[in-house]
Amino acid sequence: MKKFFITTAIDYANGSPHLGHAYEKVLSDVVARFRRLMGDEVWFLTGVDEHGQKVQQSARAKGVEPQEFVDGIAGLFRELCTTLEISNDDFIRTTEERHKRVVRDTLQRLYDKGEIYKAEYKGYYSTRQEQFLQEKDRSPDGSWPDIFGEVVEITEANYFFKLRAYQDWLVEHIRSNENFILPRYRAKQVLEFLSEPLNDLCISRPKERLEWGIPLPFDADFVTYVWFDALLNYYSAVAERGDAWPADYHVIGKDILVPPHAVYWPIMLKAAGIEPPRSLLVHGWWSINGARMSKSTGNFVDPIPFATQYGPDALRYFLIREMSVGQDSDFSLQQFLARYNAELANNLGNLVNRTLNMTNRFSGGVVPERVVDEEPEHELRGLWEKTRVEAIRLAEEFQFHIALERTFAFVTATNAYIEKRAPWKLGKSTDARDAALLRTSIATMAEALRLGVTLLAPVMPGTHARVLALLGVEATGTWREQLEWGSSVTGASVGQTAILFPKPTSA
Ligand code: ME8
Ligand code: MG
Repeated sequence: MKKFFITTAIDYANGSPHLGHAYEKVLSDVVARFRRLMGDEVWFLTGVDEHGQKVQQSARAKGVEPQEFVDGIAGLFRELCTTLEISNDDFIRTTEERHKRVVRDTLQRLYDKGEIYKAEYKGYYSTRQEQFLQEKDRSPDGSWPDIFGEVVEITEANYFFKLRAYQDWLVEHIRSNENFILPRYRAKQVLEFLSEPLNDLCISRPKERLEWGIPLPFDADFVTYVWFDALLNYYSAVAERGDAWPADYHVIGKDILVPPHAVYWPIMLKAAGIEPPRSLLVHGWWSINGARMSKSTGNFVDPIPFATQYGPDALRYFLIREMSVGQDSDFSLQQFLARYNAELANNLGNLVNRTLNMTNRFSGGVVPERVVDEEPEHELRGLWEKTRVEAIRLAEEFQFHIALERTFAFVTATNAYIEKRAPWKLGKSTDARDAALLRTSIATMAEALRLGVTLLAPVMPGTHARVLALLGVEATGTWREQLEWGSSVTGASVGQTAILFPKPTSA
């Protein structure tokens, strides 16, 4: 059976991971974990993009060989995955032989089919962006925008891939597959780009200008253009598995939709006779304190120490709660701490504490049975039924931020239920009805807590595991079964009070 195959972009191995990389991995991980819990067999791929000019330059600047340089960076990205509890099944590096083999085979196949030709090319070249520029790239005053760095006019022979031959096919493909680009409003930008005739794609770089790349199999004087190499990672990683392709989702940022993922990639596959991916899931960009993140200005969040300080789930929660998939968002420590304190430490943390405290204090540490079923219990259970259905529907539509909002509204309602029942008062009474209400309220809060963290599992896997352990229960059956209001916590021996989200001293 075909697996549900999801990928992240592969990150440039020219610097250490930043918050944008962390977000993309967490978002993809939430989808992967959600699909697994929904019963799919998932294959989740991430990795690093190790060739090209930028990497060669960064290695030179450090005075080390490119391979040694990328080995170090790849280690950091693996560490990012571990720290953030990313559940990837594979991690691909484009310097691996399994990848280079597929790149060579694909190039040779396209060359043999006549999809690649050699031509003399004269034009302006941006060394920073590693691309030839066109007249339309100039600023209104005729100069080249700063983002291109140094621009030089060069004439050279190169190899070109016949993009233009597939332009009509691609337009038709995008029009007839409305899930190919998600969110759908992003397709407009792609179709606009495709309303102009495409230029064929220069897929080679002369060795004298760039050594750090995969040599063309049919001409050793050239290496492969980094995008042609990098895009193939999605296929090379699973080429030998046979149960993954086509990809269900390529999760990417909006800056790499047009042209690489929406134009080059589907055409490369079409020309090579390989099925295109089913969807590109395009997310927006994080700014930090309202500005573009930049290491040189210090406007930068290093996700590994950050996740270590506040816990991976706190960062995962914030990133998913704060950003609507597709839109941009801003990260600030202030906003992070506001959510951390109000939603994690106070709301969820309180529920955990109260449940453990009340169970230990009034029930000998064992979750009692529910014996009363009145309005407050009905109301909470009714809210749960709605929350569960909506959160799943929202997750299926990638509206994770709203799904989290609903889930936390349920946590809030559970705390309100506890206030209403006030078990600390019931515990002082000798009345039989109060005793029944006490047992019921403890059992109800424990069940509500179990359900809440079960629904949070894709976003906060560590918290889910920890709370279940504290409740003394195990997750059994399918996720949908686990999400059913029941009495599986009754009889469980709970742990001692634990602080899941300690208050940061600086808050
Ligand atoms: O583009 N906010 O690598 P990359 C959110 N190697 N996402 C961000 C971001 C931000 N501020 N900054 C970057 C590359 N990203 C290529 C990809 S795929 C075959 C090759 C996202 O390290 C960016 O949109 O520059 C991209 O999806 C990913 O991080 C890697 O960016
Ligand atoms: Mg980038």
